[in-house]
Amino acid sequence: AEVNLQEVHDTLVSIAFEAGRMILAANPSSISTDTKLNAVDIVTETDQAVERMVLERLRAAYPAFHFVGEESYQPEVTAITAAPTFIVDPIDGTTNFVHSFPNACISLGLAVDRVPAVGVVYNPFQDLLFTGIRGQGSYMQRNASLAAGQGQGEKVRLPIGGGTRPLENLSTALVSIEYGSQRDGENFELKLRTFRKLAAAKESGGAMVGGLRSLGSAALNLCACAAGQLDMYWEGGCYAWDVAAGWCILIEAGGQMVSGNPGDWNPALDSRVYLAVRGASGGQKEIIEEFWKVIGD
Ligand code: IPD
Repeated sequence: AEVNLQEVHDTLVSIAFEAGRMILAANPSSISTDTKLNAVDIVTETDQAVERMVLERLRAAYPAFHFVGEESYQPEVTAITAAPTFIVDPIDGTTNFVHSFPNACISLGLAVDRVPAVGVVYNPFQDLLFTGIRGQGSYMQRNASLAAGQGQGEKVRLPIGGGTRPLENLSTALVSIEYGSQRDGENFELKLRTFRKLAAAKESGGAMVGGLRSLGSAALNLCACAAGQLDMYWEGGCYAWDVAAGWCILIEAGGQMVSGNPGDWNPALDSRVYLAVRGASGGQKEIIEEFWKVIGD
């Protein structure tokens, strides 16, 4: 049966607000923290509690849909199929959360036929909500939970294509990159090479990008591209739950996701390299070419 994307969106927004209240109620200075891959790959009891709540709500509302969550993910059994699948990161930006650095969010996506169809990303510290529905545009709302409580509030439609100033070139671009948690091996070398080339002067084979940022949340990086606040975002080690929701929001704002793997979302097997570019009235193709020319060498 056809999935009612608007209804899924509304359910996800109310779950996001509930998650936001849990995140704000937690006290990061006394929270118990565990590690996964290594000492910088952390998970807190709040990540786990939020994911349990989200799973419970979604099981009740959509018992037939599949569920992939960062904290319950099992590499041996989890592959994203064509079935409607919720893809959830209970706290994207856990390190920021632990430090009370207010750039963290809950990221709730729905993929249908392995393509992101609904995205809800909510930063409770700023009460800032980003949403997107495939084919219906994406929106940003400030004071979102406050407005919802009062039954009002204006959503701003994010710029679609021509609504945004043209992209010029990398030396005028604001580009976000992330180190992620993998700090050794080939993946780490790829990241270092890429960062070096982006930053270096042209005479030393670089792109000399206008500005590089590491803000600590993949989902919020994608939303910032969707809102035209960042020009590009590159990361060499994302999982499906980091990008599913933000991807939908970005695309619906006229942005592009260049090197991801829609349709091949096996979180254990895909290349996990992503380049996002904001919507623009021109220059998208050129700046993507410039990016690969510099980085590919
Ligand atoms: C991480 C953040 C970080 C990115 C990592 C993600 P988490 O998500 O988005 O910015 O660099 O790749 O895993 O662990 O905080 O949910």
